[in-house]
Amino acid sequence: MMDKNKVIIFDTTLRDGEQAPGFSMSSGQKLAMAQALEGLGVNVIEAGFAAASPGDFEAIKTIAENIKNSTICSLARCNENDIRSSGKAIKPANSGRIHTFIATSPLHREYKLKMSKDEIVNRAISGIKLARNFTDDVEFSCEDAIRTERDYLKKVVEAAIKAGATTINIPDTVGYTTPEEIQRLFEFLTSQIEGCDNTIFSAHCHDDLGLAVANSLAAIRGGARQVECALNGIGERAGNCATEEVVMALNTRKDFYGLSTDIKTEGIYGASKLLATLTGNPVPRNKAIVGKNAFAHESGIHQHGVLANRETYEIMKPEDVGVSTDNLVLGKHSGRAALKSRAEKIGFDLSDNQLMSVFVAFKELADSKKEVFDADLEALILGEAVGTQGPWKLESLSVSAGSDDNTSPSAKVKLLHESGNLEETIIQAAGPVNAVFLAISQITGHPLHLESFTVQSVSEGKDAMAEASVSVSTEFENYQGRGASTDTVLAGAKAYLDVINRIERRAVRQASIAAQH
Ligand code: KIV
Ligand code: ZN
Repeated sequence: MMDKNKVIIFDTTLRDGEQAPGFSMSSGQKLAMAQALEGLGVNVIEAGFAAASPGDFEAIKTIAENIKNSTICSLARCNENDIRSSGKAIKPANSGRIHTFIATSPLHREYKLKMSKDEIVNRAISGIKLARNFTDDVEFSCEDAIRTERDYLKKVVEAAIKAGATTINIPDTVGYTTPEEIQRLFEFLTSQIEGCDNTIFSAHCHDDLGLAVANSLAAIRGGARQVECALNGIGERAGNCATEEVVMALNTRKDFYGLSTDIKTEGIYGASKLLATLTGNPVPRNKAIVGKNAFAHESGIHQHGVLANRETYEIMKPEDVGVSTDNLVLGKHSGRAALKSRAEKIGFDLSDNQLMSVFVAFKELADSKKEVFDADLEALILGEAVGTQGPWKLESLSVSAGSDDNTSPSAKVKLLHESGNLEETIIQAAGPVNAVFLAISQITGHPLHLESFTVQSVSEGKDAMAEASVSVSTEFENYQGRGASTDTVLAGAKAYLDVINRIERRAVRQASIAAQH
């Protein structure tokens, strides 16, 4: 039975988000992200596009095998190969969905598909019928629905429902609509379509005009009961509706919308940070809900108001989205339970295995640093998430630097490749960080053009954890890497190696796609 008071959160971070340039993830990273989305209470996880590559297929299958509390969905064009491979990929899931789509707008019909209106309707019907052989949960999307003639859109949607689609998604593929327009469209669809009473209507908005969240909320006002969104608003071009924003808007303005979601909002900040770390794309400081400044009050007038009563300048509590405000500190005598509970407080639900590896890293950190603040812990947990992604691992590093005229700064770096190769080199250069980067480049065979290198302290004190970010450009792509340590040079080395690992993993993915075609 459909609950008209609930909005289904369909998160496409791992599909629309992951397919955007600069956001690709390995299969292991996708699983880690899917676990975070499950922990968040996401209803449907769109885990990828099974027919896109063997890597995509495997990632969806692995997610379907491991995630038990969210529906796992694979995208498929309306053709037999895509639908069959989606059906296979979601088979192990407790609850699996096939999301099949075909474009319906005049531009797409004429120039992309070169198909008539009737051919498209027939393709939609046969695709949905085939998908229903694999699962009862079939979603159908009219790509570029917003620019589709309304009478034709009605015809396609009615045919799709008759063929067995249980969710109808109306994408604003090019981010063209406005709140007023999309609200009216959803009012029309949810009242005038034959079969609308037993169908979930869904909005999928892109952010080309910066309206994706506003448009999704307007679609909900018009009757949509599913929104498709991605954490940090990632996705094709300017991105998708941001999961954290639409959820917190519904939550904070429940008085206005009168609707709820199943999202455990305290997990939002941790999941957002994890995504930023896994993809190497930091969240902008001023980003709504999850940016560093989202709950910072800098001006005197604001600080004064907040001290008197937080609600003067705060419409949400930071802890509601997992941003910690208390300053409880862990130290070297803190145990596993304290670490787990602190991690939960800052939005990370660690599995037993994760807790084990984070605990080892925590003990090492607590030995070198008396007080471990939340920001240190966050950097450590995320560092663990990044650190497990090869193929290269930093085995050891030592540097020398100083003002002695007779010696130039040098770095001795030892790296271990997942193939078992252990390689070491010593390089002299103008500065110690420069020497470290050159040594890593020499061993891995990646002479990179460094665009920026920044280091910042994530907590207080002279023994604070440092977080380094490296940005490099290759001929085709821009890559960001991140590393954290109490030693700034080591943090830089980790960030630089993170970039190289991303480049190599991407090359492996591309080779697998090329082998398929
Ligand atoms: O933007 C879009 O139209 C899509 C569809 C595949 C749903 O991502
Ligand atoms: Zn999209």
